Amino acid sequence: MNKTIIVSNRLPLQIKLNEDKLEIKPSVGGLATGMKSVHAEGDSLWIGWSGLTEEELNEPLRNQVKNAVKKENCASVSLTRKDVDNFYFGFSNKTLWPLFHYFLEYTSFEKENWESYKKVNQKFADVVIENIEDGDTVWVHDYQLLLLPGLIKKEKPNTSIGFFLHIPFPSFEIFRTFPWREEILTGMLGSDLLGFHTYDYERHFLSSVKRILRLDVHFNEISFHDRVIKVDSFPMGIDYKKFHEAAKKHISQPPKERSETQKRLDDHIQASPNTKLVLSIDRLDYTKGIPNRIKAFEYFLDKYPEYKEKVRLIMLSVPSRSNVPQYQLLKKETDELVGRINGKFATVSWTPIWYFYRSLAFETLIDLYTAASVAFITPVRDGMNLVAKEYVATRVNKDGVLILSEMAGAAKEMSEALLINPNNFEQIADTLKKALEMPQEEQERRISILQKRLERYSVERWAQEFMKSLNSTKKLTEVYV
Ligand code: UDP
Ligand code: G6P
Repeated sequence: MNKTIIVSNRLPLQIKLNEDKLEIKPSVGGLATGMKSVHAEGDSLWIGWSGLTEEELNEPLRNQVKNAVKKENCASVSLTRKDVDNFYFGFSNKTLWPLFHYFLEYTSFEKENWESYKKVNQKFADVVIENIEDGDTVWVHDYQLLLLPGLIKKEKPNTSIGFFLHIPFPSFEIFRTFPWREEILTGMLGSDLLGFHTYDYERHFLSSVKRILRLDVHFNEISFHDRVIKVDSFPMGIDYKKFHEAAKKHISQPPKERSETQKRLDDHIQASPNTKLVLSIDRLDYTKGIPNRIKAFEYFLDKYPEYKEKVRLIMLSVPSRSNVPQYQLLKKETDELVGRINGKFATVSWTPIWYFYRSLAFETLIDLYTAASVAFITPVRDGMNLVAKEYVATRVNKDGVLILSEMAGAAKEMSEALLINPNNFEQIADTLKKALEMPQEEQERRISILQKRLERYSVERWAQEFMKSLNSTKKLTEVYV
């Protein structure tokens, strides 16, 4: 039977060493959580990096890693410490990530890192080629592997290859600054289908292809080396049922079976029944607008002092890419801002911000989502943002308000949320007040529409539509050739 080979930098599981023992955790981030459901459903092999470097592994450990990933229908690509420094921290997260999120001032262009990026993409290609059988389909994911489609196509021209970008594709004016722009675009064009979260990202990509490679583009099709390549937008959904059912179960749970976090939340609700919880969850990343959010919250408390002791911001920041200096600076800035604002407003019985710097288990995330009256999601730039969708899916009583930055891809499909510009503190403060005071019927109306849409366009449907389109692209190419 033909299989789908999923390829991404990270596997859905991350392995660490703890005193010579493997410690296995689920990976964090939209790509991993979304694709995990797709992988669980079908016949697929997932290829990616385990999280450990070659230097950390001796022979017995290497076998243990191999078996651990095999059990999850995965295969790992082995990377050296230098690969991780130059390809992952370096080119992927000091060049492509900031550039594609419009942070030109954070973007470094280093030749050594580019060389490493090419070498590591080839390592991924080698593992894919080792595992390909005739009739298999390959689905490559995200900015760490932009060259991979071209490398696979070169070796396996008849293999159908799809590529999906989970982050924004920037406008031509930004992309043109990139020194290796032709190579990157040519690498992406090894695919038969290229998918983006939104129409805008798709349009930006097509415009770069036209202006940089000077290729023929007809609507959303590119003619390249006797092939027709299709480009389309596929907004990624979530596993709606999983979140909705988990929230339903959670609500009906007897108090003694509740988690530690939930007990703490229950205590909070009991001690101050009139204090509402406002929630934000994101990786600690400068694209997520964390300082803006905290400053806007301060602005809100200054502008509407009647809300002191009546509202609390719970902020979960998941550690991410902490070897990159910009992330270290952000951590410092966040710690300082939280400290300053808690110092400025706290009373004996109230701290305005509860800040957690860690990742949490799925059940605890559900505790937080279901406890919050408002989700406060303010990225300055975000490819999609699945947290916004997960919050909505858990609102089984159809209450709750989503405040969402218009800079997130998700805003394009969630116009019933309260949309804000993350740089406009005045607007954010007023929107927060509106959310806290929103009548029940209006909450219900907005949440119901959002839920219906999320249920219909689940991550499963997203994957099906992508695959359907990839199959039809293959047929199109056969006719054309
Ligand atoms: N998430 C997680 N553990 C945590 C916090 C968040 O697995 O402790 C998940 C969250 O449920 C969501 C994903 O991480 O599915 C974040 O995806 P999103 O698209 O919002 O942002 P990204 O991290 O991909 O930029
Ligand atoms: C985003 C990216 C993913 C990445 C994830 C976590 O969702 O689109 O490709 O895996 O962040 O980041 P990390 O660098 O830890 O893999």
